[in-house]
Amino acid sequence: MSSSSNAPTPHESRDAQPWRAAPAGALKGGVRVPGDKSMSHRSLLLGALAVGRTTVTGLLESDDVLATAGAVNALGAHAVDKGDGSWEIDGVGIGGLAEPGQALDFGNSGTGCRLMMGVVAGHPISATFIGDESLSRRPMRRITGPLSQMGARFAGPEDGTLPITVEGAAPPLPITYTLPVASAQVKSAVLLAGLSAPGQTTVLEPVRTRDHTENMLRAFGCEVTIEEGPHGIHAVRVTGECELTAAHVDVPADPSSAAFPLVAALLTEGSDVLARDVMVNPLRAGLFTTLQEMGADITFENERESGGEPVADIRARFSSLTGIEVPPERAASMIDEYPVLAVAAAFADGRTEMRGLEELRVKESDRISATVAMLEAIGAEVEELEDGMIVTGTGGTVPGGGHVRTGLDHRIAMSGLVAGLAAQSAVTIDDAAMIATSFPAFRDLMTSLGAQISLTNT
Ligand code: S3P
Repeated sequence: MSSSSNAPTPHESRDAQPWRAAPAGALKGGVRVPGDKSMSHRSLLLGALAVGRTTVTGLLESDDVLATAGAVNALGAHAVDKGDGSWEIDGVGIGGLAEPGQALDFGNSGTGCRLMMGVVAGHPISATFIGDESLSRRPMRRITGPLSQMGARFAGPEDGTLPITVEGAAPPLPITYTLPVASAQVKSAVLLAGLSAPGQTTVLEPVRTRDHTENMLRAFGCEVTIEEGPHGIHAVRVTGECELTAAHVDVPADPSSAAFPLVAALLTEGSDVLARDVMVNPLRAGLFTTLQEMGADITFENERESGGEPVADIRARFSSLTGIEVPPERAASMIDEYPVLAVAAAFADGRTEMRGLEELRVKESDRISATVAMLEAIGAEVEELEDGMIVTGTGGTVPGGGHVRTGLDHRIAMSGLVAGLAAQSAVTIDDAAMIATSFPAFRDLMTSLGAQISLTNT
């Protein structure tokens, strides 16, 4: 293991940023939340692997995505910020990345780290992957397992966490791999390594996960097929040793970020909020379906296609919600949205049961425990389950007034603040810094709608 991998990351020595969200009445207006995080990472990675100059507009310039841009540059491709979300990436072609001179620091980003492990695994180079305290706790065997089968080698701690040094295979073996967990990150890592393999690499998905890697690979000229087999298992196949041709990617707004102003509007009396240009790929839109089933006044306007993905303007108006049983098979299509759904459930009339969420225990935090603790802090009734939670909502407002521990998790931070906007009294969070990993403009954007979110010393 490389000794440089023990160096402190920039995240370890900073001061916490406590914030406070207070009820301030109706939220009104239109917003364009920043670009989709999943697509932003992928546009940089595929741009680096393509031949020629890829142009990206609407890139999410958050800490997570900037870490991926830094890694792309450290590996010898050139990702250049042209201002205002526009980027140019001069790619080196599949197999053309160079060994980096220092460890690749992915900060808080599981997606950037895991997808890049797949890319490096398909190159005849070695690289050390490091991250912040949260990322350094997260399981990596789900990635190193299949990539080892393809011939890559890994050195790191016994428990399979970062720091990990990857020695790529030259060339990797094409494999057929059945996903043991519903994870687009694992699927994508295997497909990206498979780009260098002689032959077809197949990922079998018992549960479908977001397909942005597949869609974007096609846009860059690579053949990807998806076939449904027995028992609904989908086979995703990529033919290796193809050439990726530079492309233009226009990144639509991130539905996982749009979730915060939209849910805040549903819960705050008199509100009417429009989120523009939101990507509504069905493999990402589970939250909106669930909220509609709960009685939410959510409408899709101006539906169209952009950047190879379905896009719509989404309007949410204050609504009386009713608790429901959320189908567990929907989990993959809303995996990042459970903390904010749980806040909505606390305001809904009756029980909302959320199950099949084991994966939430290995996100930026243990998101089941962190969400349960958040709901308890705001005075809501919640029962923790091994694979989810049951929230018993008030059918009106909730007391609020609590202090939420965010555990280095941006989505817990933003969910706690949304609760504070709609509760009877203000909610504080211990640290807002991680919001910058996915939604740096969160406070300004929410404030533009009338929200009251401020720094606090408490
Ligand atoms: C992502 C996949 C999901 C999601 C993450 C982004 C992606 O993770 O939680 O925020 O862009 O592929 P898993 O693959 O671990 O489910």
